[in-house]
Amino acid sequence: MSLIYKRSTYQLNFFLTVNDYLGEIIPFAKRIDKKHLLIPLVILKTIEWCIYRWYKTPIRRFYGIKSNELIYNITNRCNEKCPKCGIWKNPETDSQHLNVVHIIDCLNRLHNNLYQITITGGEPLLFKNDIIQVAQESRKLKVPMILISNGILVDRSFLEEYAAMEHILVVSVDTINKEKWNEFRGTNSFDIVMHNILLAKSILGNNLRIQSVLANETKYDIPGVIEFCKKQNIMHNIQLYQDFGGHWNSMNEMKDTDDNIPCAARKNICIYPNGDVVKCFDHLKIPLAKEPIGNISKDDIIEILCTKRSTEISRIMKTCNLPCKNMSCNKPQNLLYG
Ligand SMILES: C[S@@+](CC[C@H](N)C(=O)[O-])C[C@H]1O[C@@H](n2cnc3c(N)ncnc32)[C@H](O)[C@@H]1O
Ligand code: SF4
Ligand code: SF4
Repeated sequence: MSLIYKRSTYQLNFFLTVNDYLGEIIPFAKRIDKKHLLIPLVILKTIEWCIYRWYKTPIRRFYGIKSNELIYNITNRCNEKCPKCGIWKNPETDSQHLNVVHIIDCLNRLHNNLYQITITGGEPLLFKNDIIQVAQESRKLKVPMILISNGILVDRSFLEEYAAMEHILVVSVDTINKEKWNEFRGTNSFDIVMHNILLAKSILGNNLRIQSVLANETKYDIPGVIEFCKKQNIMHNIQLYQDFGGHWNSMNEMKDTDDNIPCAARKNICIYPNGDVVKCFDHLKIPLAKEPIGNISKDDIIEILCTKRSTEISRIMKTCNLPCKNMSCNKPQNLLYG
C-alpha cells in the first residue's frame, strides 16, 4: 500500500511524481500471477495511489487501517550471551528505560493502524510486569501481540495469564544439541528452556512458535530444530543471520525475498528501550534516517510519524534493498512460519 505524502513537498516536481508512481506500480504489477487481471488491478492500484498521494487525512499520512506493525524493543538487557547477537553488551540504565505508560499511550493512539505489536529485546521477560500490561492493553484494543523470548523466564503463571489473552509467544532455538546450546547461548540454559517450551506448548497450544537463526554456525543444527518442531506440532520460522553486533557468519548466498518486492519494513514503527522512534532497526544504513524521528516520552507518536522527515524516510525505504530486508520483522507476514 502506498504512503501518503505532503502534497506541497512534491507538487511541482513531475519527475519525482512519475518516479514515485512507477516505484509503486512496477513491483505491484510483477506480483500479479493471473495476467488477465493485470489491467484491472493496475487501474485499481493507480486509483489507490492517487488517493494516498493527494489526499491528506487529518492525522494519518502513513499506511491505512490495520497496516502497520509496532515493534517495541523493550530492553537491551539480557540473561543470555549469544555470540550471534551484540545487543546484551549495551544494556540501558534504569534512567534510560522507558516508562510503560508511554507505550500504552502509543498503542492507544495507533491501534486503528496496527495489525500487530511485536515485543523484542534484549530479553523482554526481564520486564514481565510491563509485558503483561502491554498485553492487556493490546487485548483490549484488539491488537494481536507477538512476544519474542529466549524462553528462560517463561513460567506457568505468566503463560496462563498470557494464554487467556490469546497472544503469540515466539521462543528462539538454534539447536537441540545440549553441548552446542551452551556455545550458541553463552549459558547452560538448555534444560530450563526445553522444559519451558513443552510447558508453553501445553498452555498456549498453537500460539507458541519457534524461531531459529540460520548462519554458517547453525546450518547443521536447524534441521534438528525443524524435526523437533514437527514432532511437537509447533510452527517454526527461520530468520537469516544479520548484523546484530554479534560474530557469527552469514550464508551470503541466501536470501528469501524477491528483489522486486519493496522492503516490508515500511510498515514498521520501531521503538527503542529509551522511547526513540525509528522506521526500521537498520535505520543507520539510510543517511536521512540516522537520527531517530522522535521520542515517545516527549512527543505524540502521530505527530512524530507525520513529520516531513518521517514520510521522506518511508519513501526512501520503498526502494531500499539491503540484506536486512530478509529479517522476519521486515518481511510480509505471509512469508513467515511453516
Ligand atoms: C534479538 S532477539 C530478542 C528476543 C530474545 N532475547 C530472543 O533471543 O528470542 C529477537 C530474535 O532475533 C534473533 N536474532 C538474534 N541475533 C540475530 C542475528 N544476528 N541475526 C538474525 N536474528 C537474530 C533471535 O534468535 C530472536 O529470535
Ligand atoms: S539473541 Fe536474544 S537471548 Fe541471545 S543475547 Fe540476543 S537478546 Fe539475548
Ligand atoms: S532494507 Fe534494511 S535498511 Fe532498508 S528499509 Fe529495509 S530494513 Fe531498513
